[in-house]
Amino acid sequence: MTKILVTGGTGYIGSHTVVELHNAGYEVVIVDNLSNSNIKILDQLHQITGKWHEFVELDLQDSNAVDSFAKNNQDIAGIIHFAAYKAVGESVEQPLKYYRNNFYSLINLLTAYPKINFVFSSSCTVYGQPDTLPVTEDSEVKKAESPYGNTKQIAEEILKETAAVTSGLNIIALRYFNPVGAHASALIGELPNGVPQNLVPFITQSAIGKRGPIQVFGNDYNTPDGSAIRDYIHVVDLAKAHVAAIHRLETGKVDSYDVFNLGTGKGSTVLEIINAFEQSTGERLDYNIAPRREGDIEKIYGDVTKSKEILGWQTELDLNEMMRSAWEWEKYIKDNPF
Ligand code: NAD
Ligand code: WQD
Repeated sequence: MTKILVTGGTGYIGSHTVVELHNAGYEVVIVDNLSNSNIKILDQLHQITGKWHEFVELDLQDSNAVDSFAKNNQDIAGIIHFAAYKAVGESVEQPLKYYRNNFYSLINLLTAYPKINFVFSSSCTVYGQPDTLPVTEDSEVKKAESPYGNTKQIAEEILKETAAVTSGLNIIALRYFNPVGAHASALIGELPNGVPQNLVPFITQSAIGKRGPIQVFGNDYNTPDGSAIRDYIHVVDLAKAHVAAIHRLETGKVDSYDVFNLGTGKGSTVLEIINAFEQSTGERLDYNIAPRREGDIEKIYGDVTKSKEILGWQTELDLNEMMRSAWEWEKYIKDNPF
């Protein structure tokens, strides 16, 4: 069986990707330091897949630990690198924490595995507020709004430059739009730390009574209902795109480095998301209109033609399924706290 290393594999997107890699017939090795995830996810993955996936608790910032892991794991055929810090606000408060983790981890991995098929978690944040919509992979990369965003931009450059001069190192960077939802089993999902900064986890926690009313950040944007537009994508669709990226790398057709948008290609406003949640779950939400959130952009959604044509991947799950699964997961963790 082809073995894939999933860094950050007990995290939100990583855990869903472990399931899809397993479903596609890959053997998975998970590396995580559990800085933003829970060891219990391994039990949950066992329940979903019927398999105990190999797990190594390791901090990727530790180059000695990464080197000795690589020495003992020379049979790894590909790496999907999720492990990073991702909280935009915290990155503004503690830039070095973000630069240190997100760069050291990446550089240590590339040093330990200089010739490998490598998939990197990037973000639509690299586009900032685009001049034209939808954004294609050729759209301008705008000056980053936060140290977190900057780590994604610079990481893409590090990867591109390194792959260009390293035969046997082939890389796909995936620019995610807004991942939401949970696995259909409701056994894995997003586990936000403290008060959720992202919209959908805040909605589900508000609906279950853990938080007060939702604050809709701005209703005076130039959009049909005045609230901001994003391209929300189901995390299971996103996970499947990683399998498609590994397949693509295995064909040998990636000319050192390529980049793909992962979204639905459709934008939804904040108020549309609130409405979709109510429609698909039958729950009522309380919300207030609040001032715009600093650093937010007005609207973004992706052109996903390239992913469709080259990766042979497209989304299958709609907004209702995103909301329904997010709600099932919220109810599950209420009854089965981590
Ligand atoms: P997450 O925090 O749930 O998962 C990241 C995992 O990496 C966690 O389990 C954490 O413990 C682990 N980790 C962090 N630093 C580590 C280190 N030094 N060594 C070992 N493990 C470490 O986040 P996620 O939402 O699953 O995001 C995964 C990736 O996707 C990240 O790179 C993130 O920047 C990127 N991304 C996320 C989103 C989003 O909205 N969730 C959007 C675009 C891009
Ligand atoms: C979505 C919309 C908010 C919360 C962030 C990162 C980005 C990427 C994904 C990693 C916005 C509005 C939110 C709330 C609200 N992550 N909102 N009330 O800001 O698009 O992207 O996560 O790469 O880098 O910046 O996602 O879920 O925070 O917000 O009205 O309580 O919901 O203003 O319009 P965002 P989000």
